[in-house]
Amino acid sequence: MTLDGIDRARVPVHVGCVMDGNGRWAQQRGLPRTEGHAAGEKALLDAVEGALDLGLAWLTVYAFSTENWKRPADEVRYLMQFNEGILTRRRDELHERGVRIRFVGRRDWRVPRRLVRRMDEALDLTAANRTLTLTIAFNYGGRAEIVDAVRALVAAGTPAARIDERAIRRHLYDPTMPDPDLVVRTSGEYRISNFLLWELAYSELVFTDVLWPDFRRQHLFDAVREFQGRDRRYGGVERQRR
Ligand code: IPE
Ligand code: IPE
Ligand code: MG
Repeated sequence: MTLDGIDRARVPVHVGCVMDGNGRWAQQRGLPRTEGHAAGEKALLDAVEGALDLGLAWLTVYAFSTENWKRPADEVRYLMQFNEGILTRRRDELHERGVRIRFVGRRDWRVPRRLVRRMDEALDLTAANRTLTLTIAFNYGGRAEIVDAVRALVAAGTPAARIDERAIRRHLYDPTMPDPDLVVRTSGEYRISNFLLWELAYSELVFTDVLWPDFRRQHLFDAVREFQGRDRRYGGVERQRR
């Protein structure tokens, strides 16, 4: 486990992870897709440890998208129970590590009540923690988030001229969440799949072929090293070369 080559003074504040490739990981082993999700738990916990090693302030993981309801009913059911199980099994250790657990996404009728209860318990238990904020994007869609923000503005009677970028940001699911500096997607897919669309405007993207169940903190460190070699211009001009 090495942080060699990482400039501790320039670690990203916020890293997002699109945890993809569970199904293929299982298929490669002749296992049902759900076994891949189960194996992803260890990867998630190791990524959290890596985030703590690095001193990240925010880590956001994509656990279930608004499009994932399209999957076979038994896989969806498994994922609901699995996420409920993770929260029950892991909340105490995450709490001891100083992790604040939060959620972004729609809490609609399709999310089982029991899971919503576990989410609220994890939120309440860890609310005062300050070491790392772990945000779980669950029943999350970037387009849905923007729609919900605009709806809230309209419902509040906001005049059209007052609807600007700041107003929309204030109505995102977590207005306190800074935009991700870096997003890592596993499994060799080069797409965003509706993750944090508004917030990703100027994020650095790193793609890796590693399937999520094989992801370990070392891969997170590799992504941070790549991030530190990038030149973020935000539409401006190149920073002064050393
Ligand atoms: C990511 O793995 C987990 C979720 C989307 C819930 P997948 O289940 O998408 O795995 P692949 O992409 O089919 O291999
Ligand atoms: C993105 O993965 C969603 C999550 C990781 C939760 P998907 O597997 O759903 O994305 P696509 O279908 O490959 O774009
Ligand atoms: Mg996938």
